[in-house]
Amino acid sequence: MKKVLLATDKPFAKSAVEGIKNIVVAAGHEFAIIEKYKTQQEFMDAAADANAIIIRSDIADKALIEVAKKLEIIVRAGAGFDNIDLAAATEHKVVAMNTPGQNSNAVAELALGMMVYMARNTFNGNSGFELRGKTLGIHAYGNVGKYVAEIAKGFGMKVYGFDPFVTKEAMLKDGVTPLETAQELYKTCQYVSLHIPANAQTKQSINYELLMSMPKDAVLVNTARKEVIHEEDLKKVFAERADFKYLSDVEPDCKAELTEKYAARYYATPKKMGAQTEEANVNSGLAAANQIQISELRCQITDIRTQMSENRRHKSDF
Ligand code: 3PG
Repeated sequence: MKKVLLATDKPFAKSAVEGIKNIVVAAGHEFAIIEKYKTQQEFMDAAADANAIIIRSDIADKALIEVAKKLEIIVRAGAGFDNIDLAAATEHKVVAMNTPGQNSNAVAELALGMMVYMARNTFNGNSGFELRGKTLGIHAYGNVGKYVAEIAKGFGMKVYGFDPFVTKEAMLKDGVTPLETAQELYKTCQYVSLHIPANAQTKQSINYELLMSMPKDAVLVNTARKEVIHEEDLKKVFAERADFKYLSDVEPDCKAELTEKYAARYYATPKKMGAQTEEANVNSGLAAANQIQISELRCQITDIRTQMSENRRHKSDF
């Protein structure tokens, strides 16, 4: 019997936990869970004898991977791998996976929700404005970006997209106007919704030049990662543009300063909320549990094949 640990500092909905547990137990494994843990040490202690781990934004760094001596597979029930030390995983022969697309609609709904929230002055009773007819730029047209486009079109927004990895035809098919460069996107759109991953190319790439080029009453919406924002530049833009607003599902490091100086133009969820719906929890959690079973089956098949070829080799030895 192997131990599958569900380690979520931010707990999944009960139905998702039940579903994951059922899959794990039905496969003959032991199910363990750690939620709302206070320190990384607690996570490390729980991981020490785990064969498989399912996480969300929980940190699977080198220390965690090294302490989990029996670990064979780690699955991020969500998008990206930025919280898993892939080099350490490779070194220790740990398979790392994620569940792309499973929580995308939830994230997209939050992006639009935050836009409405700010357009209506955080529901403070003052007259706001509507999204209909406004320009929206989707920066990276992946799983989340597509849903944002679909919902925004329902609001009557004019939707543009920039993604060097997606064809113009694919965007046009969805009624999205493709643009050639990020510069063009920011220059064209009053709203920009970020869906880029955090990697060496994108970290701190959302900078002064891009944000200053946005049209009047610019709104940047970040449901991606805080690391993609150049925060010193962000602070400069806030100081120089009284019309600039920032909405984020990932609190920036400079949140105290933004809250103090620009409370009416800045909003961040206190804890990442994009994927925090029952549907997204069930989709990504169950996908993660199923992927562990599939990966385990693949390993078993590989073992059987290896054994068969070993047997053949031994036979031919005689
Ligand atoms: C993701 O990367 O899938 C989303 O940002 C959600 O992350 P979470 O599961 O930690 O809320």
